[in-house]
Amino acid sequence: MLLAIESSCDETSAAVIHNSVALSNIISSQYFHSKYGGVVPELASRAHLQTISKIISEALSSAGVSFSDIEALAVTSEPGLIGSLVVGSNFGKGLAIKYNLPIVPVNHIEGHIFSGFLRDETPKFPVITLVVSGGHTAIFYVKSYNDYEIVGLTRDDAAGEAFDKIAKLCNLPYPGGPEIDRLAKSGNCKKYNFPRSMINSKDFDFSFSGLKTSVRYFVQKNFPNGIPDDVIPDIAASVQAAIVEVLVTKTINAAKKYKVKTIFIAGGVSANSSLRYEMKQQAEKNNMIALAPEMSYCMDNAAMIGFIAEKKFLENKNKYNALTFTVSSNSLRSSQYKRK
Ligand code: KG4
Ligand code: ZN
Repeated sequence: MLLAIESSCDETSAAVIHNSVALSNIISSQYFHSKYGGVVPELASRAHLQTISKIISEALSSAGVSFSDIEALAVTSEPGLIGSLVVGSNFGKGLAIKYNLPIVPVNHIEGHIFSGFLRDETPKFPVITLVVSGGHTAIFYVKSYNDYEIVGLTRDDAAGEAFDKIAKLCNLPYPGGPEIDRLAKSGNCKKYNFPRSMINSKDFDFSFSGLKTSVRYFVQKNFPNGIPDDVIPDIAASVQAAIVEVLVTKTINAAKKYKVKTIFIAGGVSANSSLRYEMKQQAEKNNMIALAPEMSYCMDNAAMIGFIAEKKFLENKNKYNALTFTVSSNSLRSSQYKRK
């Protein structure tokens, strides 16, 4: 049984994992960043410090266990905001010393990649995983728990970043993704034709900065005095359609190329209702299945960290006794992700 801690950005989370099942998954979101229009790193680390102890106690009590039941700890060590990562990983190291436990450092993206396996019926490898969040947009070809490679990557903004920045242009609160999702439900997605950058490129890479610029010019030209309230749902629906179409097309194409029948979507943007629906529809048409994690496993959460940590730990229990690992902000451009 493992106790996992996640604190890479603005969610403080702790989870207890046993035999690939999350016995608890407590998440505290730092909603106060909304008034600043984005995550303020210094405030994020302070907020993690204030909540982490309570969240860990809650994770243990909600799983009905205590430290004497825990065999190992897991912490997110990269990538993320350095100050935020330091809080979780150092808290974990402190617990490792106090309770004499091994500690498994986990890559946050690896957590997202395998989050689709946190379900009753375990899907079979290989899978194609679209990791799509505020910081990352990438497609992975996943052959096993320790064998995966990146096959596509955004060349500029992440999809979540595009949602957030475009929402800001429309004066919607941060984070913009859920707002656009909500407003799009009453909008016409065919009203405005925003660009689907790189949709026909032969690779599986993405680019979302052009979409953001195109919406900015569109707003400046058509609504120089501010966007009327009744137009916002149509803009939201049209922007969402542009982002979702590119994500779905590239992911399905990757699954075809690698002859994979199972697609996972993961990360904060995988909570998007249109992405979940369209990916399922297109997968079915192509004789594949698309699986999206339940909502608490889409956003940043410790269950996904504990899930992959348990696999690593069971493979070699003696490997995780050192407290010498460090945290790092390395993004997906890092060479650690092998690229085809
Ligand atoms: O995975 P996550 O919680 O944190 C990062 O690692 O970035 O993802 C946060 C991102 C934000 O950009 C947010 O706007 C986006 O996920 N997001 C959504 C939705 N819910 C969260 N984007 C579109 N539709 C949603 N329903
Ligand atoms: Zn994330």
